[in-house]
Amino acid sequence: MPTHYFPKNFLWGAATASYQIEGAWNEDGKGESVWDRFTHTPGKIDNGDTGDVACDHYHRWPEDIQMMKDFGLQAYRLSIAWPRILPTGRGTVNPKGLDFYDRLIDAVLEAGIQPFITLFHWDLPQALQDQGGWTVRDTVPAFVDYADIVTRRLGDRVQHWITHNEMSVVNLLGYALGEHAPGFKGQYMNALATGHHLLLSHGLAVPVIRQNVPNAQVGLAINMNYQVPASNSAADRDFRRRIDGMWVRWFLEPLHGRQYPADVLHDFISDGYIPDAPLPFIQSGDMETISVPVDFLGLNYYFRQVMRNPSVPETENDPIEIHSLPKTRENVTEMGWEVYADGLLNALARLYIEYQPKALYVTENGASYSDGPDAQGRIHDPERIRYLRTHFTAAHRAIQMGVPLRGFFVWSWMDNFEWARGYAQRFGLVWVDFKTQQRLPKDSAYWYQKVIAANAVET
Ligand code: NOJ
Repeated sequence: MPTHYFPKNFLWGAATASYQIEGAWNEDGKGESVWDRFTHTPGKIDNGDTGDVACDHYHRWPEDIQMMKDFGLQAYRLSIAWPRILPTGRGTVNPKGLDFYDRLIDAVLEAGIQPFITLFHWDLPQALQDQGGWTVRDTVPAFVDYADIVTRRLGDRVQHWITHNEMSVVNLLGYALGEHAPGFKGQYMNALATGHHLLLSHGLAVPVIRQNVPNAQVGLAINMNYQVPASNSAADRDFRRRIDGMWVRWFLEPLHGRQYPADVLHDFISDGYIPDAPLPFIQSGDMETISVPVDFLGLNYYFRQVMRNPSVPETENDPIEIHSLPKTRENVTEMGWEVYADGLLNALARLYIEYQPKALYVTENGASYSDGPDAQGRIHDPERIRYLRTHFTAAHRAIQMGVPLRGFFVWSWMDNFEWARGYAQRFGLVWVDFKTQQRLPKDSAYWYQKVIAANAVET
């Protein structure tokens, strides 16, 4: 078995997000978030699950941080719940909210773990949503103020900041597909306005964070899977271009000093999603603001999608055809996502070659398998171990190719609330019994502990 050693300062971490683990949805002065509202609306989430209690991390964080320490975690990516800090999104600060994260960060640091903070991992204060949420420009200064408040308080101890997580999931699942809060379907103009305001708020927050944080390292987390056309036909290739354009290039291009991609804009117009007119929410200077230099890009990578243009009969395709892997448990996770580690290598190489980030992190990567404890209380999750091993190996190959990859965050530290899919989808290294709140490390956690200790993966 060859052993692949990682560079000396490579950071091994795990990630979570506030709404998915904290619970305590209405405690200590926290305001309602769009996810509280969405999950409390019947029919939106599988099994009627909500994040009201989640992993009860709000009360159990000392135990969770202790376990991270025991397993040798070097970095922990967490997010802050904006409505804990500013219950109505702007204006009056809730001191108890800030105190919570203050204590948490101290504990993380005492455990010898480097915190990476995501400022917005989707739990927008509902009060802002009531005024239009991200579709309106007023939410932009509210985010910048929130970023200012948080970095003033924690910036003396936290160096790494991620402004936004998966912007295209926020705008497309929230306003076009209706699967995520605030749950609107087919509102493409609002989706694009949301995307623009997320980008703009990032651009305006970066200098504020730099002002408050000595030696700040600021970046964002981009969602990018590996989309490959099912065949070499023009139709399949164009289909891939379109989907990639909406989900990935629409954000990466303006972040890197370019305009919104003209071909994607043309798709939106020709599909009748938006009128053939200048985008009304762009103001002069916005594109310059958005392309502020950052210190790193974070990549959230999960799966491959073999893309066949649904409007073209298969017979018209080129004979070079790609098929999804057979649907075994190893090849497809319980989310229905195809396991394809080379896609991570491709995504990292693409980001590096096309956008030349100074540094890259895998800010999320992991697999949903629901294995629970056996009679001895052990949790065998061989597919998750295999998933992580192959993806770590792909990351190692990327480094050998010259990609400046500095760290890897497994999604997720523990099982948690998987958005529209509720608690049935378990991504954790640590199993959570949602009735008793007992935590049990899975085999994958013990395996990861060894990887971290050796700073190497065996294949
Ligand atoms: C991306 C999101 O950032 C995270 O919140 C989610 O749980 C994982 N992917 C898995 O779907």
